[in-house]
Amino acid sequence: MRMPLFRGTKRWVVIVAAMLLSSLLLSACAENSPSVLNTFGPVAAREASLFWFTLIVATIVFVAVEGVLLYSIIRYRERPNSPNPEQIHGNTTIEIAWTIAPSIFLFIVLGATIYTMFGLGDLGGGNKVEVRVVAHQWWWEFDYPNYKIVTADSLHIPAGAVIQADLVSNNVIHSFWIPALSGKLDVIPGHNHPLLFKADMNAAGKKFLGECAEFCGAQHAHMRFDVYVDDQNTFNRWVSVQQQAATPLNTGAVACKSPIPQSDLVACGAKFFAQGACVSCHGIVGVNLNGYNDPKALGLIGPNLTHFGSRDLIAGGILENNPQNLALWLHNPQDVKPGNDMPDLGLSQDQINALVAYLESLK
Ligand code: CUA
Repeated sequence: MRMPLFRGTKRWVVIVAAMLLSSLLLSACAENSPSVLNTFGPVAAREASLFWFTLIVATIVFVAVEGVLLYSIIRYRERPNSPNPEQIHGNTTIEIAWTIAPSIFLFIVLGATIYTMFGLGDLGGGNKVEVRVVAHQWWWEFDYPNYKIVTADSLHIPAGAVIQADLVSNNVIHSFWIPALSGKLDVIPGHNHPLLFKADMNAAGKKFLGECAEFCGAQHAHMRFDVYVDDQNTFNRWVSVQQQAATPLNTGAVACKSPIPQSDLVACGAKFFAQGACVSCHGIVGVNLNGYNDPKALGLIGPNLTHFGSRDLIAGGILENNPQNLALWLHNPQDVKPGNDMPDLGLSQDQINALVAYLESLK
């Protein structure tokens, strides 16, 4: 007796499964969703080629094995009065054959993998940029020792330059990943990992998403960063802006009593920053730090805010950087990102307004 394919309860199980599967697939279609197959640099491109090569090998094996299987099932299916098939258990020739044949395919993939691995270290000569990448719980710090600048949540690189990243963690294991430019590499405490990558010349002007690819605590998903690929001139301009210290403000001239007049907001923000709890975790060159090499910077657990207003993301990428979001963050960081290092400081609305005005002015 023949059964209709999906009946009764089985049908809705199939429908739900199909919906779940399609939502999973469609979730990858969001705009700006990074893809390891849409590459803008030689490292990611070589890794994508290895993926396609392995997929082709695997597809050949799959089609061949499943083809023989289906053919055998149909051609040699049981019929009335068919004799017992010949038993091949213990046939040495066949067993050797089906051990060697898959090994050949695996060695082909192994060869391609080793070839790709060695290729990743060879990115040619030319301009080099060193970046010390420090993984925090949960945000990324980017430190350019040759330019003496430090930033957070935003990595700027010149197109065509070899980026020599030194991956550092002093807390837990993270994984550094820019899908369009480089593969993942673990960031392990006590064991710095070097990583080379490069953005193609035609990537200049583009922005890519970077993220943490290793579970590192409650806010692992909120450990994102922007990667800006600039042409060399734009990059040089960005470096020279970032090297500037913050302009000192005459904070003695403002009273900062509620309600603070609009014209005093920035100066009052600077005053609250310098006098308040902010400076125990954050640094601003020109305010509580005497330049890039100030030893005090080492003891600070929060991001360096010298050019805070020039960044597009805040708090490890959980929020876009705009006055509303910064106010939301300052009101209670633990509401926005539970478990992060910044406590609720119980700031008044006046203090928040002033700090937002000041921090956003630090371009
Ligand atoms: Cu850091 Cu996940």
